[in-house]
Amino acid sequence: MSRTIVVIGSINADLVTFTDRVPAGGETIIARDFAILPGGKGANQAVAAARLGGVVEMVGRVGIDPFGQSSRAGLVAAGVGAGQVLETSGVSSGVATILVDDSGENRILVVPGANAHVTLDDVDTGLLDAAALVVLQLEIPIETVYAIIARSRVPVLLNPAPAVALDAAKLRGVAFLVPNQGELALLTGLPTRRMDDVVVAARKLVRQGIGTVITTLGAGGAVLVTATRVAHVEAPMVVAVDSTGAGDAFIGCFAQTLVETGDVDAALVRAVRYASLSVTRAGAQGSYADAAELGRLMSGPDAGG
Ligand code: RIB
Repeated sequence: MSRTIVVIGSINADLVTFTDRVPAGGETIIARDFAILPGGKGANQAVAAARLGGVVEMVGRVGIDPFGQSSRAGLVAAGVGAGQVLETSGVSSGVATILVDDSGENRILVVPGANAHVTLDDVDTGLLDAAALVVLQLEIPIETVYAIIARSRVPVLLNPAPAVALDAAKLRGVAFLVPNQGELALLTGLPTRRMDDVVVAARKLVRQGIGTVITTLGAGGAVLVTATRVAHVEAPMVVAVDSTGAGDAFIGCFAQTLVETGDVDAALVRAVRYASLSVTRAGAQGSYADAAELGRLMSGPDAGG
């Protein structure tokens, strides 16, 4: 049986400034630190899954520039198959300008660059059909996302991030939808601040044809909703350093655990733990633990749901 996770999505260079506070409009302040780090929701999710031992193939596009070269090298170093990472001439690689403040909260501006050129034709249909799971986000063109959902014969996990309005009819058949509360609100037009509201909103999506909706709640953990049940997993208390890529850590870990074990509940528990650990460290991919570290965490005193 296939173990391959095919991630089709964005590959960015993250230009990260760490600052005590973010400037107001028209204000200039001196920040603390700066780093150029590998990022992009698709690449982050691929790296998280691979670091945990998953078999992962990345499909995406980079520009013909140093960011593209280092992104590809980073994927390969993390154990992600990058044979389907193509180059686009005449545009830059995707770039994200990120401000991280003292509370660990981020503000992100993404220039899609080559990511905006990913199409269904870029995807090897043999690879797609042989996958155990296809993982998508929304930093590539929405028409490409819809086309891949329509074409896929294997389970699809869609992370509807960043938040944009979507056509619910074109999401029908998605096996796993993993929004955060803001994304869930935009998708459903319903309030999502309270847990009860999240469940009601997620049920609306299930009625529209999504198999399982897993809403990430930040420090509140995550809640799974299907046609027949609701399961909430609390997050451990952590000191947040940088929340960048925490949602991607969740999805990479969830995908890897699901494919390896077939156990949705185990995947949910592990993904909450994994994402919580990632916010205690700076950056996205650099904050992702490997399987040994996650194993120690899961068997530690705070283990469990
Ligand atoms: O989810 C975090 C990611 O969003 C960053 O790595 C940045 O590249 C943006 O795509």
